[in-house]
Amino acid sequence: MLYAFELSGDHEEIAAAEVFACLETEGIHPKAHMQFDHCIVADIPGEESDIEASLKAVAHRIAMCHNILKVIAITKNNPESIRKAAEDSNISTHINPGQTFVVRARRVKHNTDINCAQLEGRVGGAIFRKGFHADLKNPDVTFRIVMSEKAIFGSIIASVDRKAFHDRAPHKKPFFYPGVLMPIMGRAIVNLTCVKKGMKLLDPFCGTAGILTEAGLLGVKVVGIEVRYNIIQGAKLNLEWFKSDFSLVQGDASNLPFADNSFDAIVTDPPYGRSAMIKAESLEKLYHESFREMFRVLKKGRKAVIVSEIPANEIAEDAGFTVLSQYQQRVHRSLTRNIIVLQK
Ligand SMILES: C[S@@+](CC[C@H](N)C(=O)[O-])C[C@H]1O[C@@H](n2cnc3c(N)ncnc32)[C@H](O)[C@@H]1O
Repeated sequence: MLYAFELSGDHEEIAAAEVFACLETEGIHPKAHMQFDHCIVADIPGEESDIEASLKAVAHRIAMCHNILKVIAITKNNPESIRKAAEDSNISTHINPGQTFVVRARRVKHNTDINCAQLEGRVGGAIFRKGFHADLKNPDVTFRIVMSEKAIFGSIIASVDRKAFHDRAPHKKPFFYPGVLMPIMGRAIVNLTCVKKGMKLLDPFCGTAGILTEAGLLGVKVVGIEVRYNIIQGAKLNLEWFKSDFSLVQGDASNLPFADNSFDAIVTDPPYGRSAMIKAESLEKLYHESFREMFRVLKKGRKAVIVSEIPANEIAEDAGFTVLSQYQQRVHRSLTRNIIVLQK
C-alpha cells in the first residue's frame, strides 16, 4: 500500500530524513519510495490496520510534516487527470457508506497554478457521484490532493499537531534565554536518533532544555548537563512544566559524570563561536573534549546529532564517530548551522 508524507517547508532534507527515521523507530520498513517536492510516497508492506496504527504513532512524534495520506492515485498535475483519477478509483477502503467527506487541495510552490477551490469542487463532485455527501465543517474523511511535481491524491489517516510546536516557542516557556533551537527543529533532530519511549537521551550542553523538552514529550528519559547555575535552574522549570522524566546536573560537558555506554541517544547544540557562553580554554578544545566524552557515554551502534556553527565532522571522526549524514540550516546572514548525524 502507498502512503504519502506531506512535508512542511522547514527544511526539505531534514524533513525527508525525519520521515525515514520515524518509520524505522516505529518498526515500519518501506519496500520502496518516491520523492517529490515536499512529499514522500512510500510503499509499505503489511497488514493495513497495523501499518495505520504505526503511522498514527509517527504522526504523534514527527515535526516537519503536515499530514500522512493513504494514497488513492498519483496522476499528472492537471485538473482533468486528477478529476478522472477520482472518478475511476475505488475509494471503498478510504470512506465507509454513510460517512461524509471534504476535499482539500494544496499547491506545492511553483509546480502548478491549478486553482485549488475549483479542483476541490470537481473532485468533490466525482466523490459525490459515488454516493457520498460532503460536509465542509465536520467531515468524517478528508480527501487531500498535494500538487507537487505530480498530483498525489489520497485520504488523510493522521495529521501532525503543528500548533503544539508553535505553542512551545521558547519565549512562551516558563524560562527563556536567547540562542535556543525552535521546537520543530529540536524535535526533528531528536527523531533522527531513532530514540524511543523509555530510552535515555543526553544533552551535555542543555541550556534551557529546548531539546530535552522535545525528547521528554516522547516519553524519553532525558538527562542534561549545563555549566551555568542560573540556566540549569531555568531548564528545571521548563522540564517540570512539561512533566518530563528528567535529571539535570550542573557540570562540564568535557568531563561527563556518567559510565561508558550509558545513553541510547545524544542530541545537543554546543555553544557557538561568537557566544559568550563558553566555559573552556577555547571553543576548539571544548569541542574535542566534549565529543570524546559523548562518544564514550553513548551505547555502541546508537546515534548522536550535533548542531554547530563550525563544521565538526573531523572532530567527530577523531572522537571515533562515523558521520552518517550532514545538513545545513541558514538561520540568518551570519549564522548557518551545521547538523551532523553520527553513529558510534
Ligand atoms: C547554544 S546553548 C544550548 C541551548 C539549548 N539547546 C537550549 O535549549 O537552551 C549552549 C549551552 O552550553 C552551555 N555551556 C557552555 N560551556 C559548557 C560546558 N563546558 N559544559 C556544559 N555546558 C556548557 C552554555 O551555558 C549554554 O547554555
